[in-house]
Amino acid sequence: MIAPSLLSADFARLADESQRVTGADWLHFDVMDAHFVPNLTFGLPVMQAVQAVSPVPLDCHLMIENPHRWAPGYAEAGARNVTIHAEACDDPAAVARDIRAAGALAGLALKPGTPLEQYLDVLPGFDTLLVMTVEPGFGGQEFIAEVLPKVSRARELVEAGHLTLFIEVDGGINADTIEAAAEAGADVFVAGSAVYGADDPGKAIAALRAQAAAAMPG
Ligand code: DX5
Ligand code: ZN
Repeated sequence: MIAPSLLSADFARLADESQRVTGADWLHFDVMDAHFVPNLTFGLPVMQAVQAVSPVPLDCHLMIENPHRWAPGYAEAGARNVTIHAEACDDPAAVARDIRAAGALAGLALKPGTPLEQYLDVLPGFDTLLVMTVEPGFGGQEFIAEVLPKVSRARELVEAGHLTLFIEVDGGINADTIEAAAEAGADVFVAGSAVYGADDPGKAIAALRAQAAAAMPG
């Protein structure tokens, strides 16, 4: 699946920008609070406005402190997937339960330096593992390939039947990096600048999807 990130869209035209990516699988919505990350974007009221007009299901990535306070609201508003950061949360399993109870898939995000092993016990309660391939906070950064062993490890656990998860990569995904991420075992690819920076976002999505599909193992 390809998930263009609205972080790289024109914030003055969010409805139009959501309609430029109708060929996408999920529309990635980066919520930043200027505390968990240095940057500040948009929150629940803006998500509700985009949700009302977007032809593509929303994938909300909450880079915020105290995600338990906010995450269920995004699910109630109609998000397809709501992802919280492991580092921001004392009890990720409880947040996942509330997200699912409100009707969305639940995601757990890990910063590049956060080990997977520490969260193996809570991952059965999640539907999506988001492996950050840049430090969260800004679009347009360079892909950190050193994170890929974490993707491979997660893929092994899924293939062995220990976990059932989408494995999503986020940060620096473009035509030069998507194949390595797919080979490592990712199956959801967030792309901000590579989609919204392209002359034709629809073509960029199709090209990224074809590259990923060809590189995926098996
Ligand atoms: C970064 C965000 C990403 C960002 C990716 O903190 O989580 O979703 O939009 O942008 P690119 O694809 O430009 O690295
Ligand atoms: Zn993101």
